[in-house]
Amino acid sequence: MSPAAANTSWPPAEGESSKNALVLREIHVSFPRPDGPFPVLRGFSLAVALGEAVGLVGPSGCGKTTVLRVAAGLLRPERGEVRVRGKPPRGQVAYLPQGDSLLPWRTALGNVLAALEVDGPVSPQARKTALELFSRFGLSGFERSFPRELSGGMRQRVALLRAFLARRELLLLDEPLGALDALTRAALQDWLAEALRFFPRTVVLVTHDVEEALLLCDRVLVLSPRPAQILREIRPATPRPRPRGSPEVQTLRLQVLSALAQQAHGQSG
Ligand SMILES: Nc1ncnc2c1ncn2[C@@H]1O[C@H](COP(=O)(O)OP(=O)(O)O)[C@@H](O)[C@H]1O
Ligand SMILES: [Mg+2]
Repeated sequence: MSPAAANTSWPPAEGESSKNALVLREIHVSFPRPDGPFPVLRGFSLAVALGEAVGLVGPSGCGKTTVLRVAAGLLRPERGEVRVRGKPPRGQVAYLPQGDSLLPWRTALGNVLAALEVDGPVSPQARKTALELFSRFGLSGFERSFPRELSGGMRQRVALLRAFLARRELLLLDEPLGALDALTRAALQDWLAEALRFFPRTVVLVTHDVEEALLLCDRVLVLSPRPAQILREIRPATPRPRPRGSPEVQTLRLQVLSALAQQAHGQSG
């Protein structure tokens, strides 16, 4: 099936929007460049069911971050429709941007509480709950540390905890573990699986780690180079989270890598 066919087979009828946590329908985005518009998304469509975790993997620069920014309502597409539970995305989405997103002048606790402050003053009870989460999620003793005093893994836990505490149904995570070394990353993948059990959410996870997507997601979408199209959809048979070395994960990982490699060859030759 060609990438275009994979993409056009999907968009659901109008009434389907509210059944899904997220619907992107025929999204077009291009950025102005001196030599003319630079197309990043051309008719990109995606539906994510309530409670589903969807992984997006694809080559660097294909438009993954752009997809999340559109879904978060931070970037308005030239064409196409964005619906979060049938409505515009504003106020319904917790978005963890790529890179280090903590406020350097606030403590770890202050950063986490920032998620609650957007909805109004934080009650003593909410503050107490946030403190309990620090110990539950392996951050005990670091409540009053500033981001510069924390390891990369700790900083990402704080950033993720903040995203979970925002109490938004839809969680958009842009390479949340991308900057970590392999061991820390594996530990945080387990941590993230546990956090998702504790805070059930609809998730879109962008990652360049194919195994990570296969461990944590219900469905993994393999994207083409820019303008991003959905090349393949992988649905593991077993429920998430999956054990790291499982034969299923390893087999699917090779399938995803081969889909990515084929596309890369297609582009160059
Ligand atoms: N604000 C912007 N202005 C101009 N070009 C942009 C902007 N944001 C992204 N791009 C370009 O769009 C393409 C896709 O970017 P992005 O969505 O960040 O890709 P990915 O996250 O898959 O690496 C890249 O070539 C990038 O340089
Ligand atoms: Mg990106």
